[in-house]
Amino acid sequence: MKQILVIHGPNLNLLGTREPQIYGRTTLKQINSSLEKLARKRKVRIRIVQSNIEGKIVDLIGKAKNKFDAILINPAAYTHTSVAIRDAIAASGILTVEVHLSNIHTREEFRHKSLISPVVRGSILGFGPASYLLGLDALIDILHVS
Ligand code: DQA
Repeated sequence: MKQILVIHGPNLNLLGTREPQIYGRTTLKQINSSLEKLARKRKVRIRIVQSNIEGKIVDLIGKAKNKFDAILINPAAYTHTSVAIRDAIAASGILTVEVHLSNIHTREEFRHKSLISPVVRGSILGFGPASYLLGLDALIDILHVS
């Protein structure tokens, strides 16, 4: 069975109450259970981690190489700042999809640039919690054809 690592970056543990006008009212727990449901339906195994710590995310990606077939990541604020997470993804060579709940291009200018986008297969943004499900579906499609 294919294994996919799902990484939620900083402050995503606060979903549900965090700026609901931007991120909605869906909690991280609810997002995770819909990801689990999709994974069961499509017969892949997922491991889900949330961390507020950049170095922990770098370590997770570094150790993912021989354990996971793909990564689904919402790097959250680190999207715009982390050369370290970008380099970890590039170094791992693991098939990775980046997702965002909001459309970062319609928000403040400092969010318009993703340091992560150039090293991932693709990015899905602006669809709220559905961004995660679309991202997972896309990864599974790619894994099944490769
Ligand atoms: C986010 C967008 C980022 O700019 C922000 O820092 C987040 C969440 C999103 O999912 O829309 O924390 O990644």
